[in-house]
Amino acid sequence: MNQIIPEYTLNDGLRVPSVGFGTFGLKGNAGVHAITNAINTGYRLIDTAYNYENEGTVGEAIRKSSISREDLIITSKLPGRYQEYDLAVPAIQESLFRAGLDYYDLYLIHWPNPTTDKYVEAWQALIDAKKWGLIRSIGVCNFLPEHLARLKDETGILPSMNQIELHPYFNQEEARKWNQENGVRIQSWSPLGRLNGALDEGKVKEVARKYNKTAAQIILRWHFQLDSIAIPKATFPERQLENISIFDFELTETEMDLISSLSRVDGRNKNQDPAVYEEF
Ligand SMILES: NC(=O)c1ccc[n+]([C@@H]2O[C@H](COP(=O)([O-])OP(=O)(O)OC[C@H]3O[C@@H](n4cnc5c(N)ncnc54)[C@H](OP(=O)(O)O)[C@@H]3O)[C@@H](O)[C@H]2O)c1
Repeated sequence: MNQIIPEYTLNDGLRVPSVGFGTFGLKGNAGVHAITNAINTGYRLIDTAYNYENEGTVGEAIRKSSISREDLIITSKLPGRYQEYDLAVPAIQESLFRAGLDYYDLYLIHWPNPTTDKYVEAWQALIDAKKWGLIRSIGVCNFLPEHLARLKDETGILPSMNQIELHPYFNQEEARKWNQENGVRIQSWSPLGRLNGALDEGKVKEVARKYNKTAAQIILRWHFQLDSIAIPKATFPERQLENISIFDFELTETEMDLISSLSRVDGRNKNQDPAVYEEF
């Protein structure tokens, strides 16, 4: 049975599901199979990136699925090496060609790369690509409040979404607060912690037993109640269904705090601090 996923309205009016599907590592025929199954299971938001080298796989999965293109929210991302304005515009077009799509619903700057200092130019390219109809809504990933404030100061436009590393070991309390206060929707990448052990945490399992749910469902429900859009990646159909079957129970405030209390200052999976880490 398909799950009904509640939606949010972004600051530019685009409506998006409160849980999406991550596709990092899903490629080729096996990737098409997994993503088509996810769409047919009920996922309506699919997250890809130029650098995942699977925009083609996502496009093929959309065409093979039983859902129309206009009922899906497809996200892709601009790599660091194309942040100069004149490189960003053809990169966005190339991203579309790869997927065989006419438009992306969301297009995000993948990393701010502050030392390179080209992210404002890249943002201007996204603003223009939206005007030209190539993208419906524009956002960023891994932007710290200082980067977001600069976009606002220099272009007048804040992103609709900021996709950041967020899981029980790194709950991003301050970043969530800044983004929420400024109307930027948070999306959680590696929401399950990408096998960092969060799924085996005793405290999470204890809550899972109470609700007769799995540890993954408890963590994904925690994201939902934090008002962040989790984009779990799962290859197997059972896990895909499990990960969106989270809307028939509610965690108490104490349980929310218990999971948030697992967070550590050094809880990032790979120490990728956007103030210094750069990706191209
Ligand atoms: N913007 C960025 O910089 C950035 C960075 C990283 C990731 N992302 C995006 O975020 C997405 C999700 O993050 P992620 O892929 O790193 O990690 P994740 O979604 O937290 O974890 C994925 C791992 O968890 C396993 N899993 C999924 N559901 C499960 C369940 N119910 N029970 C047990 N294990 C389960 C998956 O296994 P199987 O696949 O084997 O089923 C996979 O190994 C990515 O795919 C990508 O789209 C964005």
